[in-house]
Amino acid sequence: MRITVLTYVEASERSTEYDVVVNQVARALRRQGHQVAVLGVHADVKRVIAGLQRRRPDLVFNMVEMFAENIFGDIAMEGLLDLLGLEYTGCGPGESYLTQDKALSKKLLAFHGILYPRFAVFARDADFETGGNLRMPLFVKPLRTDASIGIHRNSLVTDMKSLMRRVATIHEDLNDSALAEEYIEGREFYVGVLGNHDPIALPPIELDFSGLPEGVPHVLDSKAKWDENSAAYKGTKSVLADIPDELRAKLQKVSVDAYRALRVRDYGRVDLRLTDTGDIYVLEVNASCYLARDSEFAVAAAAAGIPYPALIQRIVDLATDRYRRGAGLRTRTDSLKKAPSNGKKSGEAGKKSTDEGKKGEEAAKKAAEA
Ligand SMILES: Nc1ncnc2c1ncn2[C@@H]1O[C@H](COP(=O)(O)OP(=O)(O)O)[C@@H](O)[C@H]1O
Ligand SMILES: [Mg+2]
Repeated sequence: MRITVLTYVEASERSTEYDVVVNQVARALRRQGHQVAVLGVHADVKRVIAGLQRRRPDLVFNMVEMFAENIFGDIAMEGLLDLLGLEYTGCGPGESYLTQDKALSKKLLAFHGILYPRFAVFARDADFETGGNLRMPLFVKPLRTDASIGIHRNSLVTDMKSLMRRVATIHEDLNDSALAEEYIEGREFYVGVLGNHDPIALPPIELDFSGLPEGVPHVLDSKAKWDENSAAYKGTKSVLADIPDELRAKLQKVSVDAYRALRVRDYGRVDLRLTDTGDIYVLEVNASCYLARDSEFAVAAAAAGIPYPALIQRIVDLATDRYRRGAGLRTRTDSLKKAPSNGKKSGEAGKKSTDEGKKGEEAAKKAAEA
């Protein structure tokens, strides 16, 4: 297959300073016999379109996380790929929006009976919206920004005054709404999910916080995630969860349910917390999660007997199969384009089948400054 790996680059379209994951994925795809090109996206949409038209890929392996300085640019990029009639891995614009807005996600989880922390949204320009009387302590984070950006030690608040201070900081520094959630004390797990019709959950990974100094809250803040020199980074590590089969099965079931509820396509990772009383809360669902060889997702896949090149190929197969089954705009555009050659009415001609990095570096800089 001709595959274009599409990725965000920081400086400009000309830059080839890609996140490590880009070369890892490209190499894995080449090992599977594909013809692979990498295309960097920064802020020049015309160049992106020209680059794609020149390469004419059978599939775009989409790893774009943002566009220019816009962290929601990935959604528009997926829309652009749809309009260009290209097939690509991962979510479309609608699905991506559902997982990026963490409040909207919770509303969908509620419908499916999946537990999530109770919450309130503090928009920049509106009154706040609450899901009921919230119980302190609260955890305050940006509504949409991910990768632990905007998550600090003082994200955990125990009084109204520090809550409002944190909300204001998120409004000002990140230009995002603030989400205040009830703090879920407990163990933290990540579960990778792979698939469309019958998604499978990978073995859970647990965040081991035991190396943190006494009294420090057990959360993966931006320092713990990005600042390699910090005590938070050194004190946290992710490990394959050593848990009873029954708990493993429960975590995996909740994860698949959440993945489905949010309509994730091809692959994703669900972040969860388990309380002392055995309740499992979904913190967030990461569609098209980070795919580096040492990421939680790839490590969990390896533990499930799926080596890295096979994992990347699996994602390609899932995407290709999804389009073959008729999901996505591509099929419709094609069916409209095809001239009916056998006397069928045009409406019948192509009936849809009914079965149907870089950001991290910036975050690291910010975490080190914090
Ligand atoms: N409601 C909560 N209760 C306890 N810890 C939380 C809560 N929300 C977030 N955290 C901590 O903050 C981390 C990052 O939050 P998350 O919602 O996953 O955002 P991101 O998109 O930045 O990964 C989590 O891994 C967890 O350690
Ligand atoms: Mg997370």
